[in-house]
Amino acid sequence: MPIKYDRENKVFTLTTKRTKYVFGILGDRYLLHCYYGKKSGDVVPYNPYMVSFAPYPPSLGNGWSPDVFPEEISFFGSGDFRASTLKIRDGFGCCVTDLKYKSFKRLKNKPAPGGMPFAGDDGAETLAVTLADDVTGCEATLYYTVYYDTDVITRFMTVKNNGRRSVKIERAMSMTLDLPSCDYDMATLYGSHYDECHLQRVPLHHGIQSVYSRRGFSSPQYNPFFYICESGATEERGDVYGFNLIWSGSYLDEVEVDQTNKTRISVGLGEENFGYVLETGEEFTTPEAVMTFSSAGTGRMTRNLHDFTRRNILPASSTDVPHPVVLNTWEGSLFDINEDKLIAFAKEAKRLGFDMLVMDDGWFGERKDDWAALGDWWVNPVKFKNGLAHLSDEIHKAGVKFGIWIEPEMVNPNSDLYRAHPEWALSVPGREPMQSRQQLVLDMSNPDVIEYLKESFRRTFDGVKIDYFKWDANRHMSDVYSHALPPHRQDEVPYRCMLGVYSLLEWFREEYPGAPIETCSGGGGRYDLGMMRYGFQIWTSDNTDPYSRTRIQSAALTAYPAATMSCHVSNPWGNMKSLDFRYKVACGGMLGYEMDILKVSEEERLEMARRTAEYKTFEHVVRLGDYFPLVSPVTNDYEAHYYASKDGREFVFSLAEKKDTKARTTKPLKIKSANAEKRYRDRLSGKVYEGRELKDGLRLELTGEPDSAVLMYLVEE
Ligand code: DGJ
Repeated sequence: MPIKYDRENKVFTLTTKRTKYVFGILGDRYLLHCYYGKKSGDVVPYNPYMVSFAPYPPSLGNGWSPDVFPEEISFFGSGDFRASTLKIRDGFGCCVTDLKYKSFKRLKNKPAPGGMPFAGDDGAETLAVTLADDVTGCEATLYYTVYYDTDVITRFMTVKNNGRRSVKIERAMSMTLDLPSCDYDMATLYGSHYDECHLQRVPLHHGIQSVYSRRGFSSPQYNPFFYICESGATEERGDVYGFNLIWSGSYLDEVEVDQTNKTRISVGLGEENFGYVLETGEEFTTPEAVMTFSSAGTGRMTRNLHDFTRRNILPASSTDVPHPVVLNTWEGSLFDINEDKLIAFAKEAKRLGFDMLVMDDGWFGERKDDWAALGDWWVNPVKFKNGLAHLSDEIHKAGVKFGIWIEPEMVNPNSDLYRAHPEWALSVPGREPMQSRQQLVLDMSNPDVIEYLKESFRRTFDGVKIDYFKWDANRHMSDVYSHALPPHRQDEVPYRCMLGVYSLLEWFREEYPGAPIETCSGGGGRYDLGMMRYGFQIWTSDNTDPYSRTRIQSAALTAYPAATMSCHVSNPWGNMKSLDFRYKVACGGMLGYEMDILKVSEEERLEMARRTAEYKTFEHVVRLGDYFPLVSPVTNDYEAHYYASKDGREFVFSLAEKKDTKARTTKPLKIKSANAEKRYRDRLSGKVYEGRELKDGLRLELTGEPDSAVLMYLVEE
């Protein structure tokens, strides 16, 4: 049983395939964390010790202070001065929070309150531990779901007001975890639009270090994923703890090293962009946090998270089938699209062996550029004189599927929607709202807005055969005020907006079951597990330059599987790399094309056709396989990695040289998953390799030329 309770010692033990997580009940009151690490590790009982100025409950005695307890849940204002899990302001204005252990339950199914993107439980057991406070009548329940095979444990919390007065939650974290040391590094993904996913690893220091978003979007500035590892940990060695949050809005990941040289990790909504009023009888739910432990370096952490995401996050069955190789109109045509052009693109896409034509921005309302029409979801009659249904029919007749771009959460001030309903945009009465890309954010917390969007899309897409949506969102939230909520609920707006977005995503999935959703926020601006719960892949970055992409993709892969990573061969603005190079880099994820195909030479088009057919022979290894990074492009002149199929019989190996490669020969690039007794044929070149040779490491000659890449599809003979 993955969840055990030792009644005598009042200790809970959660076990996965290779890890163990232990906590106990102290003094019938506190939940003390005892251990998180490898399964065979020793659990050392907590020993009380004195720290000056540390408050203690007299019932336990001096030396027993919440200020130094390793806690599963910590409360603001009642003796623990470190980062808290929960802060509730009661009906008398007091925010001293103090809940005591009450009961626990083991659940076969995780309760999944509607509207939140929880991980599928897939038979995983859940432990629910409830704490309560007699003074305010508030109750908090901590949920732990144990994903045995992937070494993942998820956590979230609900808070219920059983008291007689309304209360306000002022800080809510999905999890708190106290580790017994501070000799760790913290690694995060930072970046910006067009420059997502820089992996930064720095030693922890005393005090608080955090990544967060106050943008209403998880954001490319800091991705919600991070890991903590032993200072010397490598790809294959050392203890590593990986964390993430199944959420796409504002969040806080906080790591605190305290006076006793211990580390507190908190993941959740934080407090700066959040607050939630609970009336009597109401309940609030945090997003779900994800954690995994690896005693075998960062590589295993990555693969745990990849497996978990494929099995329990991504929409069921979306990873089991090949993703369509699309031709997207954006980079090649921008807003200059029309019926004739798209039908010509579709015919060409078919001839070249692509699966789908995706009509990007520019098809609706008076959309000539990005100054107008967001919110007006009717087809532009000048560009599409025969309507959308006709266009879709013609595209299908040409032999490919039809995908369409939408950006439901946004509105241009220059739109019929805004003219009719300015109060539907987030904006503060009496202030001019900030614009970004000439657009405002719709108040997705307002059910009328959601209804309008459903109605518009239902009408416009009626009778149109759509095989895929690209769901974009091209700015962050400022001027956060909802005209539909009362003053005391304004702090809830970012959280409620996110739930509104999720409800609309869910509606799309139900209304158009055959059309998977690729999500996007100007590229990887919402590259998170929340979006992955609804969308089958994410547009990784607007930056399609292959040099940048080697870095962006390899860093994103630290946390997210290749199945989520949409990678297009395009003509990056003013920066033409060879087709061979662009293609080989794009093969690291889910391949597509993004260009005016009619302007490409016939020779290159045929080359694309050949490459696409080739990609389709090995894409399953990229989509479903285990990822092994070999050389980081950040610290080296080249990037190299391989994917291994789960049965260990197939590998897709890739190497891409950077612009100014100085090295001449690679270090040994070890395909350790190979079997030394077997032989493998590279199906792309025909060359045969001994398993031993692959295991010892390929030594490849580097050309020193820009735009050089190697791709192998090695299959056991
Ligand atoms: C930003 C996206 O990242 C692009 O791929 C494209 O869809 C544009 N938006 C369209 O406005």
